[in-house]
Amino acid sequence: MNYTGIPQNKHILHSSISNKTLRDWQGLSCNITPNNLMYPIFIVDEPDSIQVIPSMPGIYRFGLNKLKDHLAPLVSKGLQSVLLFGVTNSVPKDENGTHASTQYNPVIQALPMLKMWFPNLTIACDVCLCAYTSHGHCGVLQADGTINNPSSIERIAQVGLSYAKAGAHVLAPSDMMDGRIGAIKQILREHGLANKVAVLSYTAKFASNLYGPFRDASKSAPAFGDRKCYQLPYESTGLALRAAARDVEEGADMLMVKPVLIYMDIVKELKNRYPEYPMFVYQVSGEYAMIHHAAKAGAIDLRLLLTEVLASLRRSGADVIITYFAPQILEWIHGKS
Ligand code: PBG
Ligand code: ZN
Repeated sequence: MNYTGIPQNKHILHSSISNKTLRDWQGLSCNITPNNLMYPIFIVDEPDSIQVIPSMPGIYRFGLNKLKDHLAPLVSKGLQSVLLFGVTNSVPKDENGTHASTQYNPVIQALPMLKMWFPNLTIACDVCLCAYTSHGHCGVLQADGTINNPSSIERIAQVGLSYAKAGAHVLAPSDMMDGRIGAIKQILREHGLANKVAVLSYTAKFASNLYGPFRDASKSAPAFGDRKCYQLPYESTGLALRAAARDVEEGADMLMVKPVLIYMDIVKELKNRYPEYPMFVYQVSGEYAMIHHAAKAGAIDLRLLLTEVLASLRRSGADVIITYFAPQILEWIHGKS
């Protein structure tokens, strides 16, 4: 007993952290293995090109013929899953995003090749219209420029089906139309694919200011207006929770929060409410750029900071982290063993 009357030995924390193994025991649930990572890839409709993306240093758009060489070393370091985004340079865009679901879509062309080259790789496809529509919005519009929700989810479901038929394991609709999870599940059932293809819902996708570099990369910025009438207002916890309840009800297999670093309250809340669902988080393009530039300017150490960020994402409830840093992280994991 000391003068406070409290047995002193109960309040010694240093005994739990006096060496690395002891410290590791305090945070085993925050470990990062390759299975905790998903790598987003931009596939462009020019088969032989590798295109620099000025706003995302170190990230490229790959043509079909350049994908294998980029991915092979990552798969050999343990990469388990990718998230595909199509980018169109020469394939024409129109009001309904027709080529999101035709053979001209570079994602549809890449799927069978990727499955042949990497039979153990799990392939998710972002399902949206914005990279294929002339107006750059994520759904089909009415004459006044607002979203036509019934037409949008019908189109989104068709696009999802075309990816599923081409071999996608996971469909990840990022369009944020109401009822899209149910519509995709229904079309998968109608075509006998419901038991083969999972749906990862971009459940809590906020209308964020962190998507700029991505829109540059995928040439998908809206030609007018913004996405505030379909993506969630960033002040709203209530809509995020309602979106999750709805998506779960409609049959989503996995849930996502996006962006993540400034939305970890939402991650924790959703993981607490839906512990039986794998929780995905998307460290988006603007988050990538912030960390990259801070490191480049010498303000922080990339490896040390990113390791801390990844642990904090796991601590807040993330199971799988979608990150452009995946190649770098795999390198570090690989180097350790
Ligand atoms: C398209 C889509 C976006 C992202 C993923 N899918 C951008 C947007 O909604 O405008 C953002 C990803 C990132 O910033 O890395 N629906
Ligand atoms: Zn979109």
